[in-house]
Amino acid sequence: MNNLRIYKGADYNDMSRKAASVIQSQLTVKPESVLGLATGSSPVGLYDILAKAYESGDVDFSRAKTVNLDEYQWLAPDDEQSYRYFMQKHLFSRVNINVDNTYVPNGLAADPEEECKHYNYIIEHLGGIDLQLIGIGHNGHIGFNEPSDEFPAKTHLVNLAQKTIEANKRFFKRAEDVPRAAFTMGIGTIMNAAVVLLIVSGGEKAEILKEAFFGPITPRVPASVLQLHRNVILAADGAALSLFPAS
Ligand code: F6R
Repeated sequence: MNNLRIYKGADYNDMSRKAASVIQSQLTVKPESVLGLATGSSPVGLYDILAKAYESGDVDFSRAKTVNLDEYQWLAPDDEQSYRYFMQKHLFSRVNINVDNTYVPNGLAADPEEECKHYNYIIEHLGGIDLQLIGIGHNGHIGFNEPSDEFPAKTHLVNLAQKTIEANKRFFKRAEDVPRAAFTMGIGTIMNAAVVLLIVSGGEKAEILKEAFFGPITPRVPASVLQLHRNVILAADGAALSLFPAS
């Protein structure tokens, strides 16, 4: 795939460092960039590196705008498990971004359909996404676009797959506390980003990563759609890349 660039890191920290340098370069070239952001375990190291780079004067978020991929339904922004809380903790409170320029779906929205329309409007109004950071789920999901019969185009409310609930219960006190639904940006929106930066670490993601890039393009493996994107950067560690033919 000539639209895919692979930055291979030795381990999680090295992958995070390589991914952070991509985001720093993006902000250097275009300080007013619209960054699509992700949560979960994968970007924690990368956000820490960006926060430290800000402290040492090596990156400036003052003109950046951000839109997050997703948010759990019915979690308030100050709930420690909400993705808004995660972003505040790991990045927004640690750099010079104007919080008014950061967007995360409103998990408490009384009218989910309106919230989806509103989120689509925000992304369009910002002029689209310059660089979208994503992770990949064990079932190939990107954002919370779970395996299904079609690639959803825009923001929608999704029932989380059992595999996702299982994977995410590690963040909650009890498995029953994991929300069953979430708002997520659609695949169409992710595909419209000028650059997609996918970060993956660990051997347990090796099989799904190989399937995503070397298997058939199918909504049963949502990440496989990235084979059709014109500019994908994959920052991954050796374990995640261990089943890649070229590595
Ligand atoms: C997070 C998101 C998810 C995660 C994926 C991987 O905002 O949209 O798609 O990127 O579930 O999660 P981790 O990084 O925890 O393995």
